[in-house]
Amino acid sequence: MRVLTGIQPSGDLHIGNYFGSIRQMIEAQETNETFAFIANYHAQTSVHDGKKLAELTMQAAIDFLALGIDPQKSVFWVQSDVKEVLELYWVLSSFTPMGLLERAHSYKDKVAKGIAANHSLFSYPVLMAADILLFSPDLIPVGKDQIQHVEIARDIAVKFNNEYGDILKLPNYKVDENVATVPGIDGQKMSKSYGNTINIFAEEKKQLKTIKKIVTQNVALEEPKEWENCNVYNIAKLFLDEAGQKELQERYERGGEGHGHFKLYLHDVIWEYFRPFREKRAYYEAHKEEVREILAQGAQKAKESASPLMEAVRAKTGISY
Ligand code: ADP
Ligand code: TRP
Repeated sequence: MRVLTGIQPSGDLHIGNYFGSIRQMIEAQETNETFAFIANYHAQTSVHDGKKLAELTMQAAIDFLALGIDPQKSVFWVQSDVKEVLELYWVLSSFTPMGLLERAHSYKDKVAKGIAANHSLFSYPVLMAADILLFSPDLIPVGKDQIQHVEIARDIAVKFNNEYGDILKLPNYKVDENVATVPGIDGQKMSKSYGNTINIFAEEKKQLKTIKKIVTQNVALEEPKEWENCNVYNIAKLFLDEAGQKELQERYERGGEGHGHFKLYLHDVIWEYFRPFREKRAYYEAHKEEVREILAQGAQKAKESASPLMEAVRAKTGISY
């Protein structure tokens, strides 16, 4: 099965991103034909500092390679290195009714938040449709907020196919309902926008400082403690196997240790878990030329894969003459 996903290069990744999305992506490449790209054109809708966007794009590539995107198994590239996507975006614009975009939740939400309504924000779903349709994937794994965008891609494909025949493959989405929402240090959903994240690649001191801020109940040291609703436990369990979870539960129930001890333990567990990724990250950080080479090869593969479809679209729509 061909699985495709795009990731906006939006800065520091946190453990919610890891357990909610990145890990699935890494696992998917073992059994699927995976296409993953860094959506830097999409990020232009919100990042207007060119130097910053260039840096964020490179950092995203390094992060994803460190976390296990394997260029031998996945086609991994930067969106802007395959310009065909912009060509298809334009072609698809003529098959996109204004009403379809006017109903897009993410656009309406952003405008409601006071973000200036420019054209790129409005036409964002058309570019996303081009990202998808250019590679004829079977499945797009998404978070709930992106479902409508995949539906818009389908609608656009249907309109195009009605005029030109069965050229564009209708994509399906998959929402992983099993993926629990990872809580942040305040117990709400972990999210950049709430400032409650534990970042995957934080410095050690910073990570410890963040973990010390996790909100916990106030119970005397010697008393038994509840692990069920404890934010420290609920984060720790993501990193522990069954035996490890049981052991930690027993430490809570035994009493004699405070939440401070559990926080130190959580810090060690997270630090050890990400150690190999951190080492890989340091390697790529020191070998950016190698990263560029990987991305260039990925873009080449993506272009080759997109080429027959783009030829067909040009021929059908009269752009080849
Ligand atoms: P943020 O909320 O920090 O801005 P994004 O919206 O950029 O995160 O999310 C990127 C990916 O990570 C999405 O697939 C999203 O579903 C997943 N994700 C983000 N936060 C969490 C969380 N707390 N628990 C589970 N998955 C999450
Ligand atoms: N809009 C997606 C997000 O914000 C990123 C994205 C861009 C994407 N193009 C895509 C996701 C194509 C899947 C398929 O998360």
